[in-house]
Amino acid sequence: MKNLFLLYAAGAIALTPLGASAQDQAQIDLGKSLFNQWCLSCHGMGPGHPGTQALDQRYQGAMPGALEERTNLSPELVSVFVRNGISIMPFFRKTEISDSELAAIGAYLSTPQTNATK
Ligand code: HEC
Repeated sequence: MKNLFLLYAAGAIALTPLGASAQDQAQIDLGKSLFNQWCLSCHGMGPGHPGTQALDQRYQGAMPGALEERTNLSPELVSVFVRNGISIMPFFRKTEISDSELAAIGAYLSTPQTNATK
């Protein structure tokens, strides 16, 4: 019972509107660290990253192979690939990457100005 209450309280805090931009930035920062944890081995920049290589191959210079350099990714698109996988990319279960964590990764990858600062 007590745990249930704590869960509810945590949810309520998460939904409390902070200053929108501070909240967005916190979500983007979380997304970046989750990206580093789950995606970077395949989608990092430079050689040796099979995801980046496959996308470089597919887009032939029409857009960058590295996801962090893309300016046309939406959270929805990221979510479809992460939940379904594609070719050698595994799909990720909610027990691995929760919906809110996935939203954070989507926020990070769809916010080019923070990507450019790396
Ligand atoms: C084991 C390697 C691997 C991991 C880990 C991986 N991916 Fe991928 N991903 C790929 C490959 C390879 C492709 C390209 C597949 C193809 O189209 O041939 C891809 C494609 C994608 C695409 C599609 C981009 C496009 O333009 O079609 C998105 C979005 C994506 N990955 C996001 C992610 C995210 C976010 C994570 C981390 C949660 C992740 N991937 C983890 C290998 C990986």
